[in-house]
Amino acid sequence: MDSIVVTGGGELRGEIPIAGAKNACLTLMPATLLSDEPLTLTNAPRLSDIVTMTTLLASLGAEVTSLQDGKVLAMSSHDINNLTADYDIVRKMRASILVLGPLLARAGQAVVSLPGGCAIGARPVDLHLKGLEALGARLDLRDGYVHAEARGGLKGAVVDFPFASVGATENVLMAATLAKGTTVLNNAAREPEIVDLAQCLRSMGAEIDGEGTSTITIEGVDRLHGATHPVVADRIELGTYMLAPAIAGGEVECIGGRMDLVRAFCEKLDAAGIEVTETQRGLKVARRNGRVRAVDVVTEPFPGFPTDLQAQMMALMCTAEGTSVLEEKIFENRFMHAPELLRMGAKIDVHGGHATVTGVERLKGAPVMATDLRASVSLILAGLAAEGETVVSRVYHLDRGYEHVVRKLSSCGARIERISA
Ligand code: EPZ
Repeated sequence: MDSIVVTGGGELRGEIPIAGAKNACLTLMPATLLSDEPLTLTNAPRLSDIVTMTTLLASLGAEVTSLQDGKVLAMSSHDINNLTADYDIVRKMRASILVLGPLLARAGQAVVSLPGGCAIGARPVDLHLKGLEALGARLDLRDGYVHAEARGGLKGAVVDFPFASVGATENVLMAATLAKGTTVLNNAAREPEIVDLAQCLRSMGAEIDGEGTSTITIEGVDRLHGATHPVVADRIELGTYMLAPAIAGGEVECIGGRMDLVRAFCEKLDAAGIEVTETQRGLKVARRNGRVRAVDVVTEPFPGFPTDLQAQMMALMCTAEGTSVLEEKIFENRFMHAPELLRMGAKIDVHGGHATVTGVERLKGAPVMATDLRASVSLILAGLAAEGETVVSRVYHLDRGYEHVVRKLSSCGARIERISA
């Protein structure tokens, strides 16, 4: 297993290109199942999760051709010949559950393994299932699989989500595009990835209104046609790299970054004393004078502070002047980066969903272990500001969500390298 070695100290200067969003691409790819015509995605990120979704779609009979070094995904689901998503693929990546709605809508049946939990929580899919049942699907759970069918097709309905679940909104939104009649999603998730999915589906002929708000209305159509769609910029990669000059000092321009994707996050950076400027090409981030100020953070569904940036923000708060409280309200176990940061001399007290961080002048480099995708990158950020060398092991977690992290950071002067075990 590879490790990444970071030697802290120097300021960062330069520019970092922001890739297409992993979490948009992982819902846009299953959308190909809704049509027998080709769907092509541009600005796709080169990540292991995308390879996993490619493998899953291919196992169903879809063709996914990766072009331009993976930035373009040309997909065709003309010949779907298998309606079962196997456990051995689904267990690797929870987003696999997002083939359920499209398969049901296209073929009237599907057998999809339950994804199981992951490091950050149990991650049930009950809201996905309830939403699809509201559209008339019959679902049986047995031997770890969801056996779903919708003889005669899905029917439009009103779906009230008790929680603004991103995945459940995506699954039911995709299914509703081919349901007979009108579907209204109440308390729908408002994430930019949902907006991106709706825009892609509309370009395929779907009739959708209200994406980005809590109420999305879909008029079902008989079929969807092909399209070409650019994947929206990755707001979590963007926020992550904005924190690099914030924690190490210096100035970095994130090319392709959009303020509307990270407004709540930028408000926290501003309160901490970090300068963020919109430029022609993206967002420029600078930390000029001294230590950042401690700020409190509460993670919420969009447009609130994103849970996927909580670990990275904690790394910054470990070096801030003062004490900050980070409250994680989305997942039940998303502080696994805290014990690793403690190894680097951070002062963190975790009680349930709250982490109280008292900033220190300097963190100390140490061997640490990545536990999940966002925790792994928070350790790299901490290493940029630490005295000495930090060795982050199990970086396969990182490869799921960050392309070329070593190249992107070293291009701005970071002393970082990847070593194979
Ligand atoms: C998506 O996960 C993202 N993944 C996550 O990013 C992100 O953290 C999350 O949304 C919240 O923004 C992808 O888009 C592939 P949810 P998802 O459904 O859809 C509970 C990353 O690091 N819940 O909004 O699973 C659930 O347990 C990943 O890129 C139910 O109880 O998120 C969690 O506590 C991590 N029942 C909360 O809701 C359900 O049926 C948020 O889940 C569904 C969810």
